[in-house]
Amino acid sequence: MSRDFGQQSGSRDSGVRSSRRVADGSGFRQLREMLVESPDHGLYFSAPENRPEALRLISSPLAPPGLKDYFADGNTKAIIRNNMLWASGRAARPLFQFAYLMLPTPCNQRCPGCFMGQDKRKLPPHLDGDYFTPQELDEILYFLVEHGARAAVYGGGGELFAWKGAFSFLERISKFGLTPVLFTNATLLKKEDTQRLADLGAAVIISLRDTVEDNHDELVRRESFRSSITVLEQLLELGLHHDRRLAVEIPVTRNNSERVLNDLLPALRYLGVVALIEEYIQITTSDAERSRCHSFAESRAFFKRAHAVDEALGYSWTPETGTRMIGQPKCRRSLYSFALFPSRDVLDCPSHSICLGNLKEQSIHEIMYSDRYQEHLRHFSLCPCSVFYTTDEEDIPTNLPGYLEELR
Ligand SMILES: C[S@@+](CC[C@H](N)C(=O)[O-])C[C@H]1O[C@@H](n2cnc3c(N)ncnc32)[C@H](O)[C@@H]1O
Ligand code: SF4
Repeated sequence: MSRDFGQQSGSRDSGVRSSRRVADGSGFRQLREMLVESPDHGLYFSAPENRPEALRLISSPLAPPGLKDYFADGNTKAIIRNNMLWASGRAARPLFQFAYLMLPTPCNQRCPGCFMGQDKRKLPPHLDGDYFTPQELDEILYFLVEHGARAAVYGGGGELFAWKGAFSFLERISKFGLTPVLFTNATLLKKEDTQRLADLGAAVIISLRDTVEDNHDELVRRESFRSSITVLEQLLELGLHHDRRLAVEIPVTRNNSERVLNDLLPALRYLGVVALIEEYIQITTSDAERSRCHSFAESRAFFKRAHAVDEALGYSWTPETGTRMIGQPKCRRSLYSFALFPSRDVLDCPSHSICLGNLKEQSIHEIMYSDRYQEHLRHFSLCPCSVFYTTDEEDIPTNLPGYLEELR
């Protein structure tokens, strides 16, 4: 089996010794058809050669599956419509799909370019503070329920399961009838934890950095690929994917984009796992890390290819200027969600920095009903915080921050 394993785009390893599908008894039953083991590179994702008929024979394309209560869908559009009316005095109250609860959790990994700065130990100022107390948490969750929310999302600061309070936190969210959505590298989860996550109704997003074990481990930490995909296997066995509660996330770079398109995307579609394949955010990247990132022209080519791969599998979606993620519309999340940080700052989103207020000075109700938030809604514009898809050269924002200029 010949394959591009290179960390640098274009490099090719021709000396691959006999790779083969993982064996029975390897512990990978659900993933077995999607995994190959190479003596030189370890495990890697590979779309099955005999494609399952069910997907190939679909005559009218479907929208790809989105993560329950997290992905933007028709309900999201209704929330945005309501909020625009509310901002001009024509609706009674704002509505939210979810809020991000960012926590001062430590992290056991150091993924290059982590937008929370965990790899460089240079955390954003909003992460400076204590965990939310149970009373604070209840007030936030109550506010969310009262405003139509369906989920509360842990999106960082570090790794949720490096904190001993992780399950009490998730249980509290679940008790309010909200879906706990969590991003995790999954390496600290034991088998009994996966059952707890299933029972809590959690939606789990497992993050990877490459589709090949050695490449991923070299970037992140030894043996982490195997730990992460073992949890993926266990959650598949528990059937979370049947409920759209299981996703794999990977930031796309020049180094991994070929493998993501050729191997990971089809494998996830066949498994029924949500593909959270997104452009690499450029907030805390070093110069060397930035050089791995797609330029605007490369991003355009990448989304075009991703669209073609999905279409061949029976899925259809249309990228638009501002799309950062395969199968999702342009990023408008601050029109239907917000992010709370340990500093008690309430921001428009986890990776941007418009501060709407601080919980030490105002209640969550006061902040989200403020003139400031209404103003933000009325003047919303796409933020240039990340590399994203543009339909053509003219759509590239003119006011890019300096560090993104080189991507033109
Ligand atoms: C900051 S992490 C925190 C949660 C957990 N530690 C994890 O890695 O999943 C949240 C998500 O952001 C993703 N992420 C981190 N840095 C990124 C970057 N520069 N660009 C795009 N996504 C990134 C991670 O892969 C993960 O899916
Ligand atoms: S595991 Fe998550 S928080 Fe930790 S460095 Fe990687 S992306 Fe950042």
